[in-house]
Amino acid sequence: MMTLPTLSASDFPADFLWGASTSAYQIEGALDVDGRGSCVWDTFAAAGKIQDGSTAARACDHFHRWREDVLLMRQAGFNAYRFSIAWPRVLPTGRGAVNGRGLDFYDRLVDDLLEAGIRPMACLYHWDLPQPLEDQGGWLSRGIVGPFAEYAQAATRRLADRVPDWMMLNEPSVVAILGYGFGDHAPGHRLGEVGILKALHHQNLAQGAALRAIAAERAGLTLGTVLNLSPCVAHSERPEDIAAAACWDAVWNRVPLDGLLRGRIPALLADRMKDIVEPGDEAAIQYPIDLLGINYYSRMTMKHDATRPFGVGWGEPRCDRKTDMGWPVQPDGLYDLLMEFKQDYGNPAVYIAENGAAYDDRVDVNGEIHDVERVRFFQEHIAAVGRAVRDGCAVKGYLCWSLLDNFEWAFGLSKRFGIVRVDYDTMVRTPKDSYRFMAALIKGE
Ligand code: FCB
Repeated sequence: MMTLPTLSASDFPADFLWGASTSAYQIEGALDVDGRGSCVWDTFAAAGKIQDGSTAARACDHFHRWREDVLLMRQAGFNAYRFSIAWPRVLPTGRGAVNGRGLDFYDRLVDDLLEAGIRPMACLYHWDLPQPLEDQGGWLSRGIVGPFAEYAQAATRRLADRVPDWMMLNEPSVVAILGYGFGDHAPGHRLGEVGILKALHHQNLAQGAALRAIAAERAGLTLGTVLNLSPCVAHSERPEDIAAAACWDAVWNRVPLDGLLRGRIPALLADRMKDIVEPGDEAAIQYPIDLLGINYYSRMTMKHDATRPFGVGWGEPRCDRKTDMGWPVQPDGLYDLLMEFKQDYGNPAVYIAENGAAYDDRVDVNGEIHDVERVRFFQEHIAAVGRAVRDGCAVKGYLCWSLLDNFEWAFGLSKRFGIVRVDYDTMVRTPKDSYRFMAALIKGE
């Protein structure tokens, strides 16, 4: 039996957004269809860097099964959905001539979402950087700024008559740290501090340029971006661990936040970034956005480690519950994060753009998935959001990660985050208890 929700949507504002997030590369498949170009994750997978040896060539086959997926959301009572647009479908070489066929897919998807009463929230960059742009330096190069703004303009020109919400980036800190610092993600560079700081700053610059390009293209849109924010706590009371946590907070949270919302480079990193930041950059990265997407998974516990970039290593979280990713389950961290953000940045509108958990789900003899741990995860985190709303934080919505089990980057198909199970042989979708939990909560059942 599924656990009954102890929460109710009536505890949240009437216009609260409820739904799910996905990203193009993780669900679409059809990587060689309709003129799509290649991206850094295609290259990374072809180089054998995906742990289970899988690729995203089929993923969830959402490219062909999107109607079924929209129906699943409609039946759950969702009123919002964040998806991402694949840059290499729109501009196969990263810039230049727009591939209209690449945009046709999103055209159909958006119309169907609107018909289902679901608000489409588009994200422009969820990590599928066109390979030709990476070959020219990718996020290490300032040359990326122009192409990203062109792409933003092409996508909004086609879709913004129906898509009200536009998010520029997804988790620039993850792209910079894992993609350019440590090499765990595409494009796989292990450049340490300098790679991280360059990729962060150039994403900030590209984001600022894209926001301005879109605003010039069309007025009245809700513009924003999506950041992965995480309270950084020290492993111990030792001053060097406390300093390590503060430094990681600057790298992970503050470069994106202070850049966008304050037009500022965090003081802790100013010296390290002095050769990267040029005159005028601080004004160019700041923008008065309308809505910030926050992705939250857990706190981060950091300690001093002289052998690692920034002298920061991973500490041991004080938490005995962990997900299948090994991430601690810390719902109170979400409450703390929202309240601290409210206090530090003047309470601008935010929404939870991702929150969820991977578990090693079992299908029982009746073909059902009783994902009790995931249900509990959602219950506790949504309750934390509810508390923050009651305490005055301007949270406008909650989108879970994710609608479907999907291609979890370097882990391939081995980690399941969906509220709907995907059988990767048959592509059959099976709603889990967590799907029913979300539906019951939203419908007030
Ligand atoms: C986030 C990513 C998302 C997914 C979840 C589990 O960092 O934005 O694509 O991989 O983690």
